[in-house]
Amino acid sequence: MGDDKNQGFARGLTNYGDRDFSLYLRRSFASSMGYTTKSLSKPIVGIAYTGSGFNNCHRNFPELLEAVKRGVLASGALPVEFPTISLGEVFLNPTSLKFRNLMSMDTEEMIRAQPMDSVVLMGGCDKTVPAQLMGAASANLPAVQIVAGPMMTSKYQGERLGACTDCRRFWGKYRAGDIDQATINDIEGRLATTAGTCAVMGTASTMACIAEALGMSLPGTAAIPAVHADRLRAAEATGEAAVRLIGNPLTPAEIITKESVENALRVLLALGGSTNAIIHLTAIAGRRGIDIPLDWFNELSDQTPVLVNLKPVGANYMEDFFAAGGVGAVLRELKGSLHLDCPTVAGETLGQRLAREAGPVDRAVIAPGTDPLEPQGGLVSLFGNLAPGGAILKRSAADPSLFEKEARAVVFTSLEDLAERIDDPDLDVTTDDALVLQNAGPKSLSGMPEAGYLPIPRKLAAQGVKDMIRISDARMSGTAFGTIILHVTPEAAIGGALALVRTGDRIKLSVSARTIDLLVDETELDARRAALPPPRDTNSLRGYDRLYAEEVLQADEGCDFAFMKPR
Ligand code: FES
Repeated sequence: MGDDKNQGFARGLTNYGDRDFSLYLRRSFASSMGYTTKSLSKPIVGIAYTGSGFNNCHRNFPELLEAVKRGVLASGALPVEFPTISLGEVFLNPTSLKFRNLMSMDTEEMIRAQPMDSVVLMGGCDKTVPAQLMGAASANLPAVQIVAGPMMTSKYQGERLGACTDCRRFWGKYRAGDIDQATINDIEGRLATTAGTCAVMGTASTMACIAEALGMSLPGTAAIPAVHADRLRAAEATGEAAVRLIGNPLTPAEIITKESVENALRVLLALGGSTNAIIHLTAIAGRRGIDIPLDWFNELSDQTPVLVNLKPVGANYMEDFFAAGGVGAVLRELKGSLHLDCPTVAGETLGQRLAREAGPVDRAVIAPGTDPLEPQGGLVSLFGNLAPGGAILKRSAADPSLFEKEARAVVFTSLEDLAERIDDPDLDVTTDDALVLQNAGPKSLSGMPEAGYLPIPRKLAAQGVKDMIRISDARMSGTAFGTIILHVTPEAAIGGALALVRTGDRIKLSVSARTIDLLVDETELDARRAALPPPRDTNSLRGYDRLYAEEVLQADEGCDFAFMKPR
């Protein structure tokens, strides 16, 4: 094994107070894994591996890992995979977001502590890609992201199905009594039928596109279906790229800049992507000291058209997006407003990439910039006395007839209260009301779940009501839709104005003015504020629960931990 302290197994030696002994011991133990002296002398590409029995979306990772390793070996380095936390969206309690920061810390520290010269990040399911990019941004070793890729769709009685917009659509029909128990059970087995991440432009796909737009994954790789042979070729090319980055170092600090973050925000807006992505991108950028103020976000939203016709907003699925031209086609449409000199892990700038690429685009899926689906971005932030720190509305997935409206609040004080009363036939609610959920923000006991998609009360659903104004400090799944105002900041659990809303209050929403206001006079609000219970006492908590409860930041700061930001 070479003893160049800057490369391969000789990097970052375990501290026994005697460098030569440390190297001797490591060489001895590494040899026990069967490596030849020649292999041990090579530079090392670490592979952050997140295959898990609790992560269906990463089911293709064993095969994908082999392809990454093939690319590393063929380029003259040694691939060494290491496990990190994996977050399978539907297997985590109370919510995967709670563990995103833990995964990012695991990823960062294992990149830093173990001997590797560059790293491949294998992620996919919702929180895994942001966690890996946050960790890599902080560790600042050359890194390349490869994603699992989206699932393929399937069919039910001639109708195309894909997780998970159709999961919600059919569940809504079941709640409304339009389909019976046998049908919903039958559909359960057909919604998610292949390896890969959700088949629509949900959080996982949005984050995959953002990773590519940032320049942290190879061109053209975000949308390749999980089961497509191109996905394996992309993995092999990713392994090769990670080796190239050792000889020609380009760190996340040089790639994740204000300019590339702006490019990624524009792509998010043009996709009509997931509301979760704004939290994640804020957290990733925050690791490099880059802020994303929500008024900057609104400015970009005003200038950026919606181009992509994918569920949950539109009609198509990720496999259609891939066939239509993928992220490259969107970037070409946005070219005039992008920072083209941003470097990428491919070793070329974004501008060089776009000059090199051309190709047919399916205009049923990706609209031209000259004739967009919507003239302005899919997401918008709202401010007002109900959300002084901002709130998010996915206007592209909402009902425009509700955009300028004053409504009576019907308040649920917690998720438990919501579950208990939402379907009560005696619930005093009409389609003109606004449903309000409190205490579902990042510091609440519920850990900011994807509960902002409050169900339409059963008695209204049965009358055919499909959408209502819904307001909360929670998040919403990227696969959901509706006039849903999320991430209200500050949250109710720390005494934000959302905690002051009472059933019967009037709330005024104006999407054109970007406002959300509680129409209650200040004296009354002061009295309600004074009567609020004190914030949760964290002294009774221990371990990660306590760390999370004490350190998690609000949605406008990406829900990262304050101490993870650069000093
Ligand atoms: Fe993993 Fe949807 S559950 S991406």
